Amino acid sequence: MSLIMLLGPPGSGKGEQCARLAKLGWETVSTGQLLRQAAASDNEVGRAVKALLNTGSLVPDEHVLQLLREHLAQTHHKKLILDGFPRTLSQVHSMSALGLMPNKLFVMVIPDDVILQRLCGRWVEPKSGRVYHDLYHPPRVPGLDDLTGDPLHRRDDDHPDIIRARLAIYHKTVEEMLGFYAHHQQRHELLITYLDATDSIDSVHTALCAML
Ligand code: AP5
Repeated sequence: MSLIMLLGPPGSGKGEQCARLAKLGWETVSTGQLLRQAAASDNEVGRAVKALLNTGSLVPDEHVLQLLREHLAQTHHKKLILDGFPRTLSQVHSMSALGLMPNKLFVMVIPDDVILQRLCGRWVEPKSGRVYHDLYHPPRVPGLDDLTGDPLHRRDDDHPDIIRARLAIYHKTVEEMLGFYAHHQQRHELLITYLDATDSIDSVHTALCAML
């Protein structure tokens, strides 16, 4: 099994890259998308998850791991890409319990000011999580998903104050994770590649494919 992790701040382009890699036969799973689906349920867990997503806070591990476990149980995942998981050192340590042994880690590098501009222009198709952008990836028909024709939405957490909160969490958690994985790279157990996520969507895709 090939298992790849995409790590990067909000808006760095993880979703865009996963959509392209899915077309090449990779299975992709976004914990953010799993959580947004859970948040759409009108029950206690759904409401609790929704409240956390709307402030940009991390959702407790127990909910994230449960959703991921259920999702993985329904898939064969011979070529799997994780988008947005793990996000903390404790989630890193949970991976082996989920049977997940990563081969490669791609880290998307991009300044915060570029992210704000990107997320303020983002549109999403809520069911699939497909993403678009006013300038960089406009849908063929404005406001409608290319595949289904369903209406596109803004994400509730794509508000400048919430984006700043999400970025602060990313910067706070990423270093200890990278420290952990750097140690594994030294032992040749994992390959870490840093990608310039300010490049165009096509260029990042080409760079990523060259390293898969
Ligand atoms: P999640 O959905 O994972 O959000 P995120 O990590 O904040 O990342 P985004 O989805 O916002 O951005 P992206 O990197 O995918 O960028 P995209 O491709 O869309 O998580 C949401 C929330 O769920 C978290 O805040 C947390 O609360 C919770 N959560 C998730 N996982 C969790 C976990 N493991 N533990 C606990 N809580 C968890 O691109 C952005 C825009 O830019 C788009 O419009 C796109 O078209 C455009 N774009 C992309 N690439 C380029 C490019 N190269 N050039 C120009 N434009 C581009």
